[in-house]
Amino acid sequence: MRRMLLIGIGAGDPEYVTQQAIRALNEVDVFFVMDKGEEKDDLMALRRQVCERFIEDDSYRIVAVRDPQRDRTADAYAAAVEDWRRERARIWERLIDEQLGDDGVGAILVWGDPSLYDSVLAILDSLLAAGRLRFDVEVIPGISAIAALCARHAIALNRVGQAVHITTGRRLAREGLPANAPDVVVMLDAHCAFQTLRADGLDIYWGAYLGTPDEILISGALEEVRDEIVRVRVRARARKGWIMDTYLLRRRTRDG
Ligand SMILES: C[S@@+](CC[C@H](N)C(=O)[O-])C[C@H]1O[C@@H](n2cnc3c(N)ncnc32)[C@H](O)[C@@H]1O
Repeated sequence: MRRMLLIGIGAGDPEYVTQQAIRALNEVDVFFVMDKGEEKDDLMALRRQVCERFIEDDSYRIVAVRDPQRDRTADAYAAAVEDWRRERARIWERLIDEQLGDDGVGAILVWGDPSLYDSVLAILDSLLAAGRLRFDVEVIPGISAIAALCARHAIALNRVGQAVHITTGRRLAREGLPANAPDVVVMLDAHCAFQTLRADGLDIYWGAYLGTPDEILISGALEEVRDEIVRVRVRARARKGWIMDTYLLRRRTRDG
């Protein structure tokens, strides 16, 4: 039986790669890599570094494919994402079929953890549901950007016995802060959606390029550090050509 391993490699620092991931990396015949082009070349290089550093022999192959373009201008966001996922699924199906023998081990290296804002598990599920290919799926967890953010700011993700809400910049801008969540993590935010919020009573813990040599951390009362984060973010993005940032918004309570 073919196997497909989804290996979480952590969100930036090669030292985030776990022992379990290293064992899995060493079992792989073919790595399938989506090349996102231009600004994401650095991320591609990091994946290659992970293979070179942790795999003991060089009998593996890397098969890279260009990621299909997503229509980011489309009004119907959900439909555009759906089309893009379908196109990606078609590419994966063809590649797995052509490149992986009947008992071969394929792998996809997933940034951070495969369970968090990543579409690969859903794509593999859809391939299995389509029924034209058969393979086993194994998931190896990784250190997510959220874990890295909390570690670098030396904070807990939740307060004692409290809920945590995880959302995207797009949703935060559209829906505002959820009424009952004392702590909100925001990812995939290209437009600094925290600027749309009433800042009083909120602290922010912001991190960009976490776990990499370019890491930037800023924290404080939102009204005091908001403009600084926007300025620093614009500059960093212009310098590197891309940025990945994540933040936690924490409602201040009477007892801190
Ligand atoms: C498609 S999601 C993937 C999340 C990933 N699976 C994880 O476990 O962290 C990409 C988003 O994750 C966050 N992210 C990933 N790596 C990051 C890093 N090194 N520093 C800051 N944010 C990061 C950013 O919010 C980015 O927009």
